Amino acid sequence: MNAKNHQQVLDYLEQARQVAKRAYCPYSKFSVGCVLVDAQGRVFEGCNVENASYSVTLCAERTAGSGAIAQGSRHWEAIYIVSPTRVSPCGTCRQFLFELAPELKIYLGDLQSKEFIGPVAIGDLLPMAMNLQQTTLPQP
Ligand code: THU
Repeated sequence: MNAKNHQQVLDYLEQARQVAKRAYCPYSKFSVGCVLVDAQGRVFEGCNVENASYSVTLCAERTAGSGAIAQGSRHWEAIYIVSPTRVSPCGTCRQFLFELAPELKIYLGDLQSKEFIGPVAIGDLLPMAMNLQQTTLPQP
């Protein structure tokens, strides 16, 4: 990774850090923020949104992706995720992201340092992913 790309990663992770501050996570107190970047360079922010009915909780990745869809963005290139422990996307989010972005690159950062993991391909996090072509569902 050249210096310019490295700086770009640090900048997106810093943006995700700011988003994490807005996470609604009174139960876990584990704030996650992310920045989803599409092929046109558009940026969509997401944070986790918890609920007293725990299973209703939305992860940061799915709030960002849902916002992107609502804004007409479907070609996603990379997602920059920060959390206290550089946590990687949960299984549900992996499936969610893979649907629209099977080539997505993932970067993981934390809330304190400039260390990061990535790029990691979504396909490497979800081997043999279940996908539309394997089904008898109508192809959109
Ligand atoms: N969480 C995310 O937002 N993204 C992840 O990749 C992992 C977990 C959230 C869900 C919950 O609000 C909190 O982190 C603890 O699991």
